[in-house]
Order: sequence, then structure tokens, then C-alpha cells
Amino acid sequence: MARLTTIDPAGNAIGGPTATLIYDDWYPALRSDVLRDGKLHTAMLLDLPLVLGRRKDGKIFAMRDSCPHRGIPLSVGWFDGDRVTCRYHGWEFEPCSGQCAVIPSLTGFDRLDATRIYATAYPCVERDGYAWVYIPGTGAGRKLDMADLRPVPELPKFSDKFRSAHLTADLPCNVDHGIIGLMDPAHGPFVHQAWWWRSRASIREKTKKFEPIPEGFRMAAHAPSGNSAPYKLLGVYGEPVETTIDFVLPNRRWETIRCGPKWFTSLTTVTPVTASTCRIDVVAAWNVFYNVPLVTPIAKWFGAKFVRQDQVTMIQQAEGLKHNPSLMLIDDADKPAKWYFALKQARLDGNADARHPMDGPTELHWRS
Ligand code: FES
Ligand SMILES: [Fe+2]
Repeated sequence: MARLTTIDPAGNAIGGPTATLIYDDWYPALRSDVLRDGKLHTAMLLDLPLVLGRRKDGKIFAMRDSCPHRGIPLSVGWFDGDRVTCRYHGWEFEPCSGQCAVIPSLTGFDRLDATRIYATAYPCVERDGYAWVYIPGTGAGRKLDMADLRPVPELPKFSDKFRSAHLTADLPCNVDHGIIGLMDPAHGPFVHQAWWWRSRASIREKTKKFEPIPEGFRMAAHAPSGNSAPYKLLGVYGEPVETTIDFVLPNRRWETIRCGPKWFTSLTTVTPVTASTCRIDVVAAWNVFYNVPLVTPIAKWFGAKFVRQDQVTMIQQAEGLKHNPSLMLIDDADKPAKWYFALKQARLDGNADARHPMDGPTELHWRS
């Protein structure tokens, strides 16, 4: 795995962390509408194979895709809308709790109480069209109380009527490369050049204010880049446009654009699928141009193109990373990446609140 080296202001190299995974948090496993067919579906999160489904009563579930008896994937078994039955010896499990209900081989001579056996089931919640699954760290017992868990992320909406869209892309790199690619301001003019977004020639010096927030940082409310065409479109409302972008551990980028009563919000997550691959998911909601026909398919088309540009770049980057190069992060353009690594290390060490890398609001300067 490539090691990321940080360059301090004097030009000295400092070793960076490798892509350790952050447990004890919520990750989107898949779109929850696929679970409507009453079948079992598989997903991989943080190297954990999962089997997901929806019970007849509508509740969704996520279990470790492994029978606690002899490890065959539960996803190759049967699901009748109430219980998951293992294909090997027919043990039956209630999928939300993982509790075993039936062991067909038991006789009156056996003393074993099947209901004391549990398959591993994870907290699983449907939100913004995703099945969010809580992945506990090792050593966590199966009795996780929802009240003790961090809140499930939810996209903010500022009116009752809104439209929404989502998109997804697999990235062949570890979650850290995915995340720092997401927060990297300097790639825009090169990776995302297109007539409808911006051109390389539009590169100019920017100053952005950042401030610390719990487990993350905020690019403070600002008028969005004047050199991006979609933002210019919002000018038709004749109201000041303000954008706020937050990054919050473990993997979330929140963007809110407000323009009087009009708004656009998005949540982008970079989720570790395995230790060396990740997936980017974007879900957005808006009431801007609500009554303009075809805005949703057009927005989806542009959004998909935009994410595809990042994806292609990261596929190319992955070729280079195979050969274990040493890498660097520079000031100021890579400063958010440095904050990310520091916040992540603090969280892994268990003292994220006490060890924020920013001691207050600050300004960063770069050209993009
Ligand atoms: S392996 Fe599942 S019941 Fe035996
Ligand atoms: Fe990008």
C-alpha cells in the first residue's frame, strides 16, 4: 500500500497514515429500493460481507453474510419475508436480531436452546434511499442499543417539496485516496474541464475561510466560484447565493447552497468496500428550478459526467499507486487533506474532540 507523505512548510517529509478503516459508524451499503423484491442482496462494507433484505413488515435488515454454524453465506439460503434459512443445515434466523429460531437437526434428546444462538446482525436504517449499516469495531457485542450509537446521517431539506437524485461510482483506490480526491480543490481545472463547468483558462487565485467543526471542518459560507457555469444559473433568482461545505469523519462531504427560499443540498460519502477499494455515493435534493421540465434527468446527466471524471482519474491513479510510490501533500491546496488525516488519527486514537488539528478559523489560498 502506498504511503502518503506529508510535506511540512520547510519542505520536510513526514510519514502519513495508511488507510486504516474507521469502525463504530454508519455507512451506506446499497440503495434500499433494491430490497423491495423480497430477495436477499449482498453488499461489502469495510471488508465485511453483508446480506441485506426487507421483511414483510417493511423493516430492512443487514446481517453478516456468514452462517454462525459453519460459515456458508446466508445469502445462498432462503428468505420467506420473515426468516432467513441457511442452505446447509436449515437453521432459521430472525434477520433483524439475528436470533436463531429453529435448528432442524435437534431432537428431544438435545439440551441446546436454539434461541440462544445468534447470527451477527447489524443496526440498519433506511435514510435518503440508502440502507445505512452500523459497522461496530471488533469486540462489540451483538446487543447494540440504537440510543448509544451516533446519529444516522440525513440530507437536510429546507422545504416540503423537493426533487432528488443519486449516483454512485466504484473507485479502485483505498478510502483515503477517495476522500482526499473529494476535498482536493486543485484538480478541478484539470479533471473537470468542460464547456459547461469551467475551463483550464479560468484558473484564478482563491481565498477560502475554513473553521473547525466537531470531527471535521467547514468551508465557511461564501459566494460560490464565479467561474462555474451551474452556479451562474442561480443568478436568475436575483438573490445572493451562499454555499457551505462541511467535511465530517468518517467520510462525509455535506454541501448546502441557499439562494433565498431556493436551496440545493448534497451528501457525498466515500465508503470503504475493502481495505483497498471504495465507492463514492452522492445523494442530492433541491427545490431550485423545481418546475422547469427535465431538470432532474439533466442534473443526473451532468452529475454522472462529473463523478465519472473523478472516477477515470482515480482509475489512472490506481495504476501508478500499484508501484508503491511515495507521495506528498503540499500547503495550502492539500491542507484539507492534512486536516483529514489528523482528524482521522485522533479518532482512531479515541480523542477526536480533544485533538482538532485547527486551533480556530483560518484562511487557505490556492489557484484553481
Ligand atoms: S452452516 Fe448454516 S446451518 Fe449449518
Ligand atoms: Fe473531482
